[in-house]
Amino acid sequence: MFVCICRVVTESRIRSAISSGASTVDDIERACGAGGDCGSCRDEIQAMIDGESPVAEGCAGCPRAGQPRGLSRSA
Ligand code: FES
Repeated sequence: MFVCICRVVTESRIRSAISSGASTVDDIERACGAGGDCGSCRDEIQAMIDGESPVAEGCAGCPRAGQPRGLSRSA
């Protein structure tokens, strides 16, 4: 999933930067460019840094609740 459309940066690339020590949105920008253009993705990047993963919360009873987006349901 792309988080930063302007710089074509995926969620996994941002997570990799966070795992490598990036702790601010500016660190992420320096690491991969995300957030360095229009800035509309910076709040989402900050949420990722804060551990507020952009995962599907789901409705009560949803079999995908809590799973990262894009993962298919297990059989
Ligand atoms: S969407 Fe990330 S800088 Fe524009």
